[in-house]
Amino acid sequence: MRLSNCVVFVTGGAGFIGSAVVRHLLDETAAFVVNIDKLTYASSLDSMPQAAGNPRYRFARTDICDGPALRHLFEQYRPGYVMNLAAESHVDRSIDGPGEFIQTNIAGTFTLLQEALRHWRTLDGSGQAGFRFHHVSTDEVFGSLGPQGLFTETTPYAPNSPYAASKAASDHLVRAWRETYGLPTIVTNCCNNYGSYHFPEKLIPHIIIRSLAEQSLPVYGDGSNVRDWLHVEDHARALTLVLERGTVGETYNIGARSECSNIQAVRSICALLDEIAPSPAGPRERLITFVADRPGHDRRYAIDPSKIERELGWRAAETFESGLRKTVLWYVDNRPWWQSILDRGYRAERIGLSQGVEGVAGS
Ligand code: NAD
Ligand code: TYD
Repeated sequence: MRLSNCVVFVTGGAGFIGSAVVRHLLDETAAFVVNIDKLTYASSLDSMPQAAGNPRYRFARTDICDGPALRHLFEQYRPGYVMNLAAESHVDRSIDGPGEFIQTNIAGTFTLLQEALRHWRTLDGSGQAGFRFHHVSTDEVFGSLGPQGLFTETTPYAPNSPYAASKAASDHLVRAWRETYGLPTIVTNCCNNYGSYHFPEKLIPHIIIRSLAEQSLPVYGDGSNVRDWLHVEDHARALTLVLERGTVGETYNIGARSECSNIQAVRSICALLDEIAPSPAGPRERLITFVADRPGHDRRYAIDPSKIERELGWRAAETFESGLRKTVLWYVDNRPWWQSILDRGYRAERIGLSQGVEGVAGS
């Protein structure tokens, strides 16, 4: 069985992608999984039903900025692998309040690297050789593309949002800990994810739940910005493969060659909902509303996944069409999961138009 006799730390395992990784590790490998999560607004422990009572699973409510708490976890569990998915992840929130992004994404990654390094130095030769620190990052570090071209592993970094800049900084820290201290690190940069258990502030679940509530569907600018979409379960599979078979010191771009403009994505969701859960008021497209653009809105993202396909034999299983259908069905069938987020006070309102001063460190 894959990953037998080993402990995997998954930070951010109560988030969208982290929970998909936890589910995948529990279902498809023999790994002992320690989910390390601060439980911010974006988390839900209901996102991994198979974890309940599972003898191969532990949860630790811990902030990755808390060095002593992390040290204790490293000493207690002595992991062979660390997958870092703990992050502040929403661009619009980073515009309104960048401070948390600097704290978790940069200072938190630094703290985790330091504690991983301290632990790694206690391992014997084969333990050190097998150890991996896998940092999960985004294609947004590369900035914005024009109508042509794709992001490759050698595309220069040019982040445009506070979120992207904080992720770029964390990627650089991870690289430096490998080059300077020899910590065996790998970085992956992935395109936009979608799928089940996705917090409804992000485009796809946002549009689904607002459609179901007969609310307006906000499309930023003219809707022509393009995103490249990967189903989260394809991503979790790719991350596990990179953890097991990726080459230390390398970076891997992960994507499914599934570009789509935002307006097309919103129209597709409307059409799927009209088919699956028709509204007596008529087709959902009537709810589409063009709203003020996001400041610094990146025009286009598109990943070239040739390297991971060629070197590790990974391929996305879902097309955007098949994955979007599954996702819409999941939100229709799993209202209690997202209703509990609304009940906790999330309002699905427009954010990300402020000047960001409230997030300035020390203010
Ligand atoms: P998410 O916002 O859904 O989840 C983040 C999780 O991290 C939450 O459970 C939260 O409680 C936890 N967390 C936040 N701050 C923490 C801290 N200080 N200490 C411990 N835990 C903390 O994010 P996601 O969409 O699952 O993204 C996971 C990672 O993947 C991020 O690093 C993100 O940059 C990257 N990524 C995301 C996408 C995407 O489309 N969502 C695409 C590419 C890469
Ligand atoms: P988002 O899901 O926030 O991801 P990211 O900004 O990391 O790509 O947004 C995806 C795209 O959808 C982005 O171009 C902004 C746009 N968008 C809307 O048009 N309306 C919305 O309500 C949201 C949340 C996003």
